[in-house]
Amino acid sequence: MSLHSGQIEIMERAKRFNVVSCGRRFGKTTLGLGLAFYGAPHCPGGLGRGFDVGWFAPSYKLLDEAWRGAKGFLREYIKRTDTQQHRMELVTGGALDFWTLEDPDGGRGRKYGLVLVDEAAMARHLQQAWDAAIRPTLTDYRGAAWFFSTPKGRNFFFDLHQRGQSEAWPDWASHHAPTVANPAIDPAEVDEARRSLPERIFAQEYLAEFLEDGGGVFRRVTAAVDSTLSTDPAAAKDARDGRAYVIGVDWGRHNDFTVLTVLDCRERAVVAVDRFTDISYEVQMQRLRALHGRFPGAKIIAESNSMGGPLIEALRKMQLPVRQFQTTQASKADAIEALALAFEQGGIRIPPVQWLINELMSFDQERLASGAMRYAAPRGGHDDGVMSLAIAWSGIGGGRQPVQAVAVNPW
Ligand SMILES: Nc1ncnc2c1ncn2[C@@H]1O[C@H](COP(=O)(O)OP(=O)(O)OP(=O)(O)O)[C@@H](O)[C@H]1O
Ligand SMILES: [Mg+2]
Repeated sequence: MSLHSGQIEIMERAKRFNVVSCGRRFGKTTLGLGLAFYGAPHCPGGLGRGFDVGWFAPSYKLLDEAWRGAKGFLREYIKRTDTQQHRMELVTGGALDFWTLEDPDGGRGRKYGLVLVDEAAMARHLQQAWDAAIRPTLTDYRGAAWFFSTPKGRNFFFDLHQRGQSEAWPDWASHHAPTVANPAIDPAEVDEARRSLPERIFAQEYLAEFLEDGGGVFRRVTAAVDSTLSTDPAAAKDARDGRAYVIGVDWGRHNDFTVLTVLDCRERAVVAVDRFTDISYEVQMQRLRALHGRFPGAKIIAESNSMGGPLIEALRKMQLPVRQFQTTQASKADAIEALALAFEQGGIRIPPVQWLINELMSFDQERLASGAMRYAAPRGGHDDGVMSLAIAWSGIGGGRQPVQAVAVNPW
């Protein structure tokens, strides 16, 4: 088995209870699987020595990934797998149980030599699960516990991380490492992420920093507000000769606004916005057509989901140059991240439109079980203006590639 140097350092500093905060792709899950079999420092033993081990993950999806990883990793030792109970029994006498942290009773009544909690920061009820269900499973054997995660703000995982740095908790250790500490990751990939991701997201996901709560996705929004840009669609300066424009369109749904945003491609400035709640096809198309009339030659990029499809068809019949924007989790994340980066780098200007500024400042992010980011307005808020602007910006900005590792099984 060969751990990489970042993982070895963690093993050397391990105590009975460990909080491992690392960047994405550091090798957290791989280290966890190794510990499950070979045992961790200060624990009576792992699966290889006949002890039962508990694996906890925030969701079924993550559990399933770990289950498949374990199946590959332990394949020579597996005697029986019970997919109903999520249990793997090994020829060594030890068994590996998988539990989701959504089940507050997961692990209740079991005795473990070791428990591993993967992506702990993403579990909503981590504290209850740990105190009431997981911690007691370690009493019989004086078992050890490991919490692995990329941070997600200052939640209970952050409290545990602090516990590991406090003299008041001598059995606890905190470990911290960025993504680049994994030598299997190409540093150029991480550099690329640094350039193309908003600073805060890079800091959290790759540097494993615990960001202050309440920090939104868009920073330096007020610095981007330019009061010389017009706020009134009717009074806005119309197209100048030879200028290229993009119009981003986010169609309204029930209780929602339709927002049309015009970007001046060279100035990188929003030169007009139109926002209205009448979602009849007729009205939406008329207003877009009128706006396009003021910026002739502008390219239109419109959301094509649900009724966007037929609207785009109809617009094309009117000879309007419409490109479609298919909103998926991934395309939305790309567009939002590119826009956030533009604000951060001072690369965009917006007019003093208060509802747009409010939307931008309250726009929120959440990391999903899959590890991807989900972006949305906070509950009860709107994000039509943000989406319309992000769609327009996608007609100017660039995309980005996901980070991948090369090695497969290091043990
Ligand atoms: N010691 C090692 N030697 C070589 N490759 C490794 C080592 N540890 C991990 N890797 C590789 O690095 C990649 C990431 O590992 P792993 O999935 O364990 O990381 P992670 O931190 O759990 O990632 P994520 O944040 O996506 O959950 C995998 O391709 C894995 O095979
Ligand atoms: Mg992992």
